[in-house]
Amino acid sequence: MALLDGKVAVVTGAGAGIGRAYVRALAREGAAVVVNDFAREAAEDAVAEIVGQGGRAVANVADVGALEGGASLLSSALEAFGRVDILVNNAGILRDASLVKMEEAQWDAVMHVHLKGLYSATRPIFGWMKDNGGGVIVNTTSTAGIRGNFGQSNYGAAKCGVIGFTNSLAIEGRKYGIRLWNIGPAAATALTAHMPEEYQRRFQIDRVAPTLLYMVSHLSGDQTGKTLLAGGGWVGEVRFEVHDGYEPSDDFTAEELARAVADGKVLFPDRDAKWVTAYGPSGKREG
Ligand SMILES: NC(=O)c1ccc[n+]([C@@H]2O[C@H](COP(=O)([O-])OP(=O)(O)OC[C@H]3O[C@@H](n4cnc5c(N)ncnc54)[C@H](O)[C@@H]3O)[C@@H](O)[C@H]2O)c1
Repeated sequence: MALLDGKVAVVTGAGAGIGRAYVRALAREGAAVVVNDFAREAAEDAVAEIVGQGGRAVANVADVGALEGGASLLSSALEAFGRVDILVNNAGILRDASLVKMEEAQWDAVMHVHLKGLYSATRPIFGWMKDNGGGVIVNTTSTAGIRGNFGQSNYGAAKCGVIGFTNSLAIEGRKYGIRLWNIGPAAATALTAHMPEEYQRRFQIDRVAPTLLYMVSHLSGDQTGKTLLAGGGWVGEVRFEVHDGYEPSDDFTAEELARAVADGKVLFPDRDAKWVTAYGPSGKREG
């Protein structure tokens, strides 16, 4: 028996790139898939490939950032397969520019797909899962949202926002058996075509999907609300930690805080931080 026999998965932005590798892997493990991509040809091609190999798949060509597009993901799954067990919010775009050069349209386009798309796609499916025994939802973050990246204030804001969305929804979903994950992939795709040759060589696209399969299957038990970075030769959890901190005196001042900072009681020492780069963890801050 395959890992996901009888399951139904919806994957957004699955006509190309990482999403395409996800739907191949999900179908190989027995899941029926709704292949969403607003690039029609790509979505239909992915479906033809899966069906040609004996899998079950239908295309959905909606823009996930539009409310009706998000709602259509649930309808596609119910009409074709009668249920939905897995949602992977993967669709994404870049509109890079340093902030002073960034036009409103670049800001809005990124928010539309990465954040409005989360709301539009997840709300209907979360509602269905809540009434039908639960499910797993995987949202897509990026190191750009965790440590930042030059020229990506729009994308970084959206991708950190994804983590906040997931954290809250993990709490809301707990009593309904709905598990949440963030995945921060690294893979050579159209989106990362600008990255150096080493990136293209090292980050083969098929090396992300095993992490997704772990997340959406029984293999991850009841884990929820966690963030895994996955790509190339490395997989690891990222989490926000709180410093032990400092308890101010009753007549607390900014100078007192400055002394506490100097004594190492407030800020994490930079040298101990493990900074995540596109290539995995590194002991020092780069860039
Ligand atoms: N490639 C990487 O190394 C990397 C790193 C960090 C995060 N990510 C994230 O992983 C996800 C997948 O990225 P990728 O590299 O495979 O990109 P990609 O460009 O290869 O594929 C993205 C797909 O999403 C589709 N899409 C875009 N906007 C859409 C919309 N509004 N509605 C429906 N479909 C839409 C595109 O047509 C495309 O087929 C994205 O969320 C991206 O931000 C990728």
